[in-house]
Amino acid sequence: MDQNWHQIPNEVKFGIRYLSAHFYPKRYMSRWVILKPLSIKFSERVGSYSPQQYQEELDHFTFFESYFSSEPLSEIELPVSYISFFDDLVEDFKSGDLDRVVTRFHLVTEGILATTGLNVLRSVGEQHNLPIFVDGIKHIIEDEARHINFGLSLINDKEFALKRLEELYPEAMKIVIDGQPYLKALMPFERITAMMEDLKRGKESRLKS
Ligand SMILES: [Fe+2]
Repeated sequence: MDQNWHQIPNEVKFGIRYLSAHFYPKRYMSRWVILKPLSIKFSERVGSYSPQQYQEELDHFTFFESYFSSEPLSEIELPVSYISFFDDLVEDFKSGDLDRVVTRFHLVTEGILATTGLNVLRSVGEQHNLPIFVDGIKHIIEDEARHINFGLSLINDKEFALKRLEELYPEAMKIVIDGQPYLKALMPFERITAMMEDLKRGKESRLKS
């Protein structure tokens, strides 16, 4: 944790912890234990890069666990919209349909939701002078950029992916809107949703090219 942490306004501290809990949902992890064997199976199917991605995701958990060790993220409750989004990810993995997994996980979860959230965290960390936090977030941003590119390269059916993007985007937006009371302490809310819209458009044009 940064020395400066305790000087930050309470609503900003809570907002940072609230948003960070989306990356390390400690309170709910037992609900998704099955994701571990399912994603290992997925790694084996898609090969090469995937086990490295899996390891990096674990490293990200470790960062949040250790940064917030004195104010554990297990205290943070996340909205039903978030929980059901990840329940549906379990179903996507179970289906064994690669395009279903990749469109929910790499395209929308990492490519839109996580990218937006990490940008907000980096910006608020810089604004409040939290160098250790910012360093950790920057490292995660680099990993995620690779994960997203890797995931998008796996998409077989681009028409399906565009349809899924339309379908899943409102679910992703709901998660953000449900967090509005806490997230608005970090950045004007319209800037957050504008970032999401931009990312969605970027993904669409990539899928159309
Ligand atoms: Fe990732």
